[in-house]
Amino acid sequence: MDNDKHFVTGLDVGTENVRAVIASVDKEGKIAIVGFNEGKSAGMRKGIPANLAGPAGAIDKMLGSAERMGGYDVRSAYVSINGSTVMSNHTEGMIAVGTVEHEIDQEDLMRVEDIAVSGRIPANREVLDVIPLEYALDGQGGIKDPLAMSGARLEVRACVISALVPNAENLKKATMAADVKALKLVPTAVAAAKAVLNERQKENGVAVIDFGATTTSIAIYEEGDLQYVGVIPVGSNNITNDLAIVLAIDPELAEEIKTRFVTGDFNSDKSLAIKVGKNKERTFERKEVEEVVKARLEEIFSEVRKKLKAAHYDQRLPEGIILTGGGAKMRDIEVFAKSCLEAAVKIGAPAGLDGVADAVAKPEFAVSVGLAILAAEESQLDTPIPGKKSKKAKKAPSSGNFLKKIFSKF
Ligand SMILES: Nc1ncnc2c1ncn2[C@@H]1O[C@H](COP(=O)(O)OP(=O)(O)OP(=O)(O)O)[C@@H](O)[C@H]1O
Ligand SMILES: [Mg+2]
Repeated sequence: MDNDKHFVTGLDVGTENVRAVIASVDKEGKIAIVGFNEGKSAGMRKGIPANLAGPAGAIDKMLGSAERMGGYDVRSAYVSINGSTVMSNHTEGMIAVGTVEHEIDQEDLMRVEDIAVSGRIPANREVLDVIPLEYALDGQGGIKDPLAMSGARLEVRACVISALVPNAENLKKATMAADVKALKLVPTAVAAAKAVLNERQKENGVAVIDFGATTTSIAIYEEGDLQYVGVIPVGSNNITNDLAIVLAIDPELAEEIKTRFVTGDFNSDKSLAIKVGKNKERTFERKEVEEVVKARLEEIFSEVRKKLKAAHYDQRLPEGIILTGGGAKMRDIEVFAKSCLEAAVKIGAPAGLDGVADAVAKPEFAVSVGLAILAAEESQLDTPIPGKKSKKAKKAPSSGNFLKKIFSKF
């Protein structure tokens, strides 16, 4: 074990899939991916825990292999939070700091942030992050970093990210029940943005859309800062369900049609028949399949566009839109998204990291990689304790024992 390194973990608790990425961080802050895994999720509904045992069991089961690969026992992580209760608000705060000669210090910044939050965010919401967008000193705005500047009156304009308390608390309980302490909850699209955006894009204006199984999450950046977060409770599973209903087939077959045969370029030349099943025993008309998929994609992207409009960023993003999440794996999805959103659209995947980074350079790993990068940057030390019993030998608990285990913790 190299003592100059510490480890961090990103844990993406999705509705359909759970993913973990373990990274090592050296003394210089260089990040290398050392372990990862993905597995089926359980007990999640539209991005929110519907019970504790489901997600906890799924996390526990999935983590083992990531831990073995990384040679590291995960006990804490940065965790994704999702669901339509996750949202952003723009607020303002003002404080008097003393005489004009007073130099703004860290305490002043914390105090003015507190003012910008307290009483402005309902008590039933948990504040996940406060992003100061702009400061003003004695009425003069446009200040990004007022530390050590002089002034008597400090104002801040901030973007506050919050989620309903039960959503956040139950997520923490679910990870805790799998022996993983949630060090920080980060909205899905914000985590994905960390893995796929560069500083220039964030400066000029860009949106990340994480197209998941049951949710579509949006994060908008401009002037280097997070400006907006919103979640639509519809995702790629809705396409599968529509196909299952309209074609009167099993969801498994519908999923196979969606993932293997559907593309987002509905005008391209393709064979007219879709043959699925083990022996290609079922044949469907492509036109019928495409009508169903197109209708649902149109609905999803029109909802996205409504959110962009509400945030005043519709057709105002020079760096366009970056799609992540499992739903972004549909071939040519960017072609359709571009026509619906009337913006440049690209698929985003984590890049530029060391270690086994190639294996997670996929849109569906953007959230977990982004969480690991954030954890690394914020230097949350997650060092292994020598001699701690590893989970490696641990079997996935049976649900009966598992529930006992959960409730013994609270
Ligand atoms: N090749 C593919 N083409 C189209 N869709 C795909 C493909 N591969 C995966 N998907 C879809 O991606 C979705 C899963 O994505 P992801 O793992 O990001 O969801 P999740 O994080 O579990 O869900 P959520 O974020 O909504 O809670 C499923 O609906 C799946 O059908
Ligand atoms: Mg997801």
